[in-house]
Amino acid sequence: MKTQIDSAVSETLLYHEQTKHHYHRYARSAGFMDWANQPNPFRCYEGVTAVRLPLLQKDPAGEHLALYERSRSVSRDFTSETIGAFLELSLGLSAWKSIPGNSWALRMNPSSGNLHPTEGYLILPALPGVIAGVFHYNSYLHALEPRAELPETLWPQIKQHLHSDGFLVALTSIFWREAWKYGERAFRYCQHDVGHALAALSFSANLLGWKVTWLNAVSDEEIGRLMGFDQTQWPEFESEHPELLCFVHRSGEQGIPRDLSREIVSEFSGLRFQGWPNRLSRDHVDWEIISRVAEATATPKHEEAALTVPVRPRPFYAPPTQCGIPAAQIIRQRRSAVAFDGVSSITKDQFCAMLDKTLPRDGSAPFDLGLTASCVHLLLFVHRVTGLEPGLYFLLRAERDLPALQQKCHRHFLWRPVVETLSLYLLQTGDFQSTAASVSCGQAIAGESAFSLGMIARFREEVETAPYRYRQLFWETGMIGQVLYLEAEAAGVRATGIGCFFDDPVHELMGLPDDAFQSLYHFTVGSPRDDARLATLAAYRHLEAPVRSEAMPRHPLV
Ligand SMILES: Cc1cc2nc3c(=O)[nH]c(=O)nc-3n(C[C@H](O)[C@H](O)[C@H](O)COP(=O)(O)O)c2cc1C
Repeated sequence: MKTQIDSAVSETLLYHEQTKHHYHRYARSAGFMDWANQPNPFRCYEGVTAVRLPLLQKDPAGEHLALYERSRSVSRDFTSETIGAFLELSLGLSAWKSIPGNSWALRMNPSSGNLHPTEGYLILPALPGVIAGVFHYNSYLHALEPRAELPETLWPQIKQHLHSDGFLVALTSIFWREAWKYGERAFRYCQHDVGHALAALSFSANLLGWKVTWLNAVSDEEIGRLMGFDQTQWPEFESEHPELLCFVHRSGEQGIPRDLSREIVSEFSGLRFQGWPNRLSRDHVDWEIISRVAEATATPKHEEAALTVPVRPRPFYAPPTQCGIPAAQIIRQRRSAVAFDGVSSITKDQFCAMLDKTLPRDGSAPFDLGLTASCVHLLLFVHRVTGLEPGLYFLLRAERDLPALQQKCHRHFLWRPVVETLSLYLLQTGDFQSTAASVSCGQAIAGESAFSLGMIARFREEVETAPYRYRQLFWETGMIGQVLYLEAEAAGVRATGIGCFFDDPVHELMGLPDDAFQSLYHFTVGSPRDDARLATLAAYRHLEAPVRSEAMPRHPLV
């Protein structure tokens, strides 16, 4: 057992090293865009009859803080309408963008390269108009594709185990979707995307008075059995990999178990799964290091771990002007900025209010869904924040890491506290615009914004403790990213995730001598410059006429 874990740790560390971008060499990828094999961004199951979900006629009520605070929304009943609303505001389409001759869909959740490797599945009790069963969520049709019907006794068994009404949601990844463009580094991006989707689920649930609890003790193999993946004929290289399983329940429910019993899981092996997954590309490249790291970091069956999220009695840090945008609208209008104006600033209050939302709080979405204790901190490149000197700053998201960071980082860093209410430190004053752009693969968006950042994770010890923590570190960064995306919209600016950065130059900038801490994801926030050539079209305009699943686009650009 020990040697098995040791080899999984080595495999994971090797993957991480091998997929670093360096100034002199990018991580391995095809090096060109094989447009003929661009994967279809929409998975559908052929041979099943999809159950269309209603689209929201009126968004759930709630202002900005209703995204986070649990006390603000009344729990809605579980119906096909409310579950449709939950999915629409998390994994649904948000718009189509078009230029003459081409259009492509955007979603509520972002994705590296807009490739969308994350798929969503539900296990539902019987609801009016919907049988109890296992379903795939088809975001193009906003529909549930039935994969298996549950026998009458099974949901009551699940409900009894979890002590509550609700339903289960699983997220899975199709690595090929991302690897088509990004090659070996793609596994990392898939994990970021899972984190974004997970936070998106938590926010949309909260607007309906529901809470998402991650069932952390369920293994990947068990999730695969629940979804019928062991009975599914996948097109070669296009199989889906289980990432996580969550229970969605009313917000007030406490003490939800974080596992499922072996008896429940084994019942799913007896179900008859129907439908076959559509083929996404004609030809593929086998990035076999991705299969190896996926295996090394798969979650095994393990003990249910309790989690206590820090209780922060203090209210959220509020900027003097309240955001007037309704919570659901913030979700709907989230977009990635493609360029920044390089001029406009945000205020120190706005900056602190955004950072404050990235901290885990008891009774607040999304970090109370039960990820392990925070391991990710923010190294901030402050360019245009009025009230703050430009320079390098650090937001500590877990106090425990301060001594190790101070000991490992450059001696000349000041570690000077900036505000009383946040563990925010000034490290060094100066103009870091070109440094930020340069370490972010030369992308101007990291220097022309109000601020950009690198997410610095406690790394080696976590991976050595359990290789599956590697995935969870990326999920945490994705969740932080989703908060920053929404906070930027609430503050009247815009954000962009940055998966492309030069890993070790960031570590050198900090003076980090080893891999105790590693930068895993970058982000940037500022005043956007829009691309006037792009037109925006309504998210579900294609459903206005009757649609058959055969009409699903074969290619992302339709
Ligand atoms: C994990 C991740 C990494 C990303 N990396 C970059 C990047 O390096 N550069 C960039 O311009 N955009 C990046 N993006 C933004 C995506 O391109 C964007 O999310 C996608 O095109 C969908 O657009 P939307 O966010 O407006 O829905 C990234 C997004 C995610 C989620």
